[in-house]
Amino acid sequence: MTQDDPGLNLEVTTVYERVGGNAFFVELVEQFYRLVEVDPVLRPLYPQDLKPGKAHLAAFLAQYGGGPPQYSLDRGHPRLRQRHMPFPIGQTERDAWVVHMISALQSMDVSADVAAVMTDYFERTATLMMNS
Ligand code: HEM
Repeated sequence: MTQDDPGLNLEVTTVYERVGGNAFFVELVEQFYRLVEVDPVLRPLYPQDLKPGKAHLAAFLAQYGGGPPQYSLDRGHPRLRQRHMPFPIGQTERDAWVVHMISALQSMDVSADVAAVMTDYFERTATLMMNS
C-alpha cells in the first residue's frame, strides 16, 4: 500500500462512535433513572441505592453500542435475562421501562437513524426480559 492508496475501506461506524462515546450513555441512563426514580411501578423493583445499577447499565449500553468492553471486564458475561430473574417483569413493567427509556432517548440530541435502531433494540430486548 502506497501513500495515496486508500487500501480497502468500508464506511462502518458504530452507534458508540455516532453518539460521541461514553458521555452519551451516562447521560441517557441519568435521564432514564430520573423517570424510574418516581415511577410507582418500577421504583419498587430497583434497590435503595440506584448508583451501581446506573453505572452498570451505562457501561453495558456503551459496550453493546460498540464501545470498549468495560461492562464485561467489571461484571462478566451480560446474561441479561438471567440477571433480571430476581425482578418480576410482566407486560406493565416492561412497558413502563420502555416508555421511560424512549423518553430519555428523545431528550438527547441524537440523529433519527440512531434513535430508530436504539428504540428497536430497547423494545425487543425489554420484551425478552419479561419473566412473569
Ligand atoms: C433493553 C432492555 C434492558 C436492558 C438492556 C437492561 C440492562 C440492564 C443491565 C445491564 C443491568 C445491570 C446488570 C448488572 O448487575 O450488571 C440491569 C439491571 C436491572 N434491570 Fe434491566 N435491562 C433491560 C430491561 C429491564 C426491564 C424491562 C426491567 C424492569 C421493568 C429492568 C429492571 C432492572 C432492574 C430492577 C435492575 C437492577 C438494578 C440494580 O441492581 O441497581 N430492566 N438491566
